[in-house]
Amino acid sequence: MSFTAPIQLPGLTLDPQWYRRSVFYEVMVRSFVDSNGDGSGDLAGLSSKLDYLQWLGIDALWLPPFYKSPLRDGGYDISDYKAILPEYGTLDEFRDLVTKAHERNMRILIDVVINHTSDQHEWFQQSREDPDGPYGDFYTWSDTDEKYENIRIIFVDTEESNWTFDPVRRQFFFHRFFSHQPDLNFENPAVHEAVFDVVRHWLDLGVDGIRLDAIPYLYQSDEGNGEGEPQTHEFVKKLRTMVDDEYPGRVMIAEANQWPREVAAFFGTEDEPECHMAFDFPVMPRIFYSLRSQNAKELIRILSETTDVPPGAGWGVFLRNHDELTLEMVSEEYRQAMYGWYAYDPRMRSNIGIRRRLAPLLDNSRAELELAHALLFALQGAPFLYYGDEIGMGDNIWLDDRDASRTPMQWTPDRNAGFSTADPGKLYLPVVQSLVYNYSLVNVESQLAQSRSLLHWIRNVIHVRKAHPTFGLGSLTVLETNHESTLAFVRSYEGSGTQFGDSAEDILCVFSFAHNPASVTIHVPEMANRPLSDLFGGGTFPGFDANGDVTLTMGTQAFFWLHVGDAPVYLPAPAAPTVVLPDPAETNPAETNPPSTPVALPPTVGGAL
Ligand code: NOJ
Repeated sequence: MSFTAPIQLPGLTLDPQWYRRSVFYEVMVRSFVDSNGDGSGDLAGLSSKLDYLQWLGIDALWLPPFYKSPLRDGGYDISDYKAILPEYGTLDEFRDLVTKAHERNMRILIDVVINHTSDQHEWFQQSREDPDGPYGDFYTWSDTDEKYENIRIIFVDTEESNWTFDPVRRQFFFHRFFSHQPDLNFENPAVHEAVFDVVRHWLDLGVDGIRLDAIPYLYQSDEGNGEGEPQTHEFVKKLRTMVDDEYPGRVMIAEANQWPREVAAFFGTEDEPECHMAFDFPVMPRIFYSLRSQNAKELIRILSETTDVPPGAGWGVFLRNHDELTLEMVSEEYRQAMYGWYAYDPRMRSNIGIRRRLAPLLDNSRAELELAHALLFALQGAPFLYYGDEIGMGDNIWLDDRDASRTPMQWTPDRNAGFSTADPGKLYLPVVQSLVYNYSLVNVESQLAQSRSLLHWIRNVIHVRKAHPTFGLGSLTVLETNHESTLAFVRSYEGSGTQFGDSAEDILCVFSFAHNPASVTIHVPEMANRPLSDLFGGGTFPGFDANGDVTLTMGTQAFFWLHVGDAPVYLPAPAAPTVVLPDPAETNPAETNPPSTPVALPPTVGGAL
């Protein structure tokens, strides 16, 4: 495979804000490349594709669990936190991956699943066999399954209770997920120490960040719903203090599938920080809702709720990941609408969500794929891509559960899509062979060979984004428009004055969800007389007029990223107002920018999705 840019090895940049600027890429070791022909992807295979990821513009990899595991939950059922599953490789190969990634200025984020273990974990085995031994209280045991009745069941397709009877200990154990995944008991201080020990083990190996899987569920209480209990936040603060003290620069990202304010609570406060990042679960389903409803109202409402984060913290935004597209955080009415649009076949559903990949969800519409990605890369927060979505990979709904969208990466039109040399029947999952998404059509090699492919388009957008630190570090302010299908916001950055040479900038981003062309007028009095130019090609656009209005003609499901010039189009420079919108995450008192000017939200917002 040859690339259109030379591969360089710049080494790791010392950038305290790296996680806010980064484009992340979620890749499951099992699914990417099989280097030894055993049918399963492995660490050596992943290392061999770092050139590709660097070419694409990826700054950080997120690796879901690759630990020893019976693999009954894709590896989120860990039986040894410090051992690598033998079919994925060795500790030395992991070290090699970290070194090679760092040579390319690419960071590694790994999953640390601390809420639960596999029932095969030695801790659980000892806990069930020896209640008075050192692991007797490592899990939550009870003589009755009638405790914590306010706590919802997450995997509603498979579980009927959060309690399972253990025939060995002859007690029930508590679990938020599968009944083979007992929850660790955080009331026990020894569990804290054991978790710290695991975290230190991987941070010592050089990983740059940890994803805290299922973080809201650490503690239960009789009164609460077991999601984000105060003691859970206390623990996360304690972990953050350890990470900051012993591993400065490494980051923690929260997986908290909750409502905006509850997710944001996992950032903590400036004085008592928790996670550096949190996945933006509230925004994600509303992007999909807007695409089909042709209405941006709910997206606008949620964006206005989620933008406030403490200094230095940032969102992780995503369209898809290795789980189902969760619909837990939308109302029943909207959930039914989403099922109707996106999961018309019951096999496409899983728990409270949709187990499909991005391209099939969007019916392989190039316009929608571009619009969705343009939004992903323009929102406040670091974008997370899911492996294969950059080539529009399909899924296989005939596979079980979330395996539908965890099939092998499609590299070439050759045997096993170039993923593995194994006998096809030996693959951990079959490659996609459907009519539209067949690997002989959808693969990296063929998209590299076509300059207008989705792969080249996404690479281009990533590089444009990276050339503008505003996207990673700036504020987001939603703007008033006259069209319900349109979302418009300005990303604003006051510049850092650092060695990275970041300069101040305002970028106007406009997205039309209408399924036909539309004309939209955006009203921003503070931007009166400022010119606009396209961020991609530099082309000049009509600027804001003296009232702060600009009218744009939007193609079907189209978007613009427009640079807002400092000099006015038709007035002499001194008369031009310079508006620097606030970045809540930047509070450098040394900055000398003019006072911030908030832009009003449209009056149409309201109503819960
Ligand atoms: C969250 C992970 O993303 C998901 O894949 C897993 O099933 C649950 N945690 C339970 O481990």
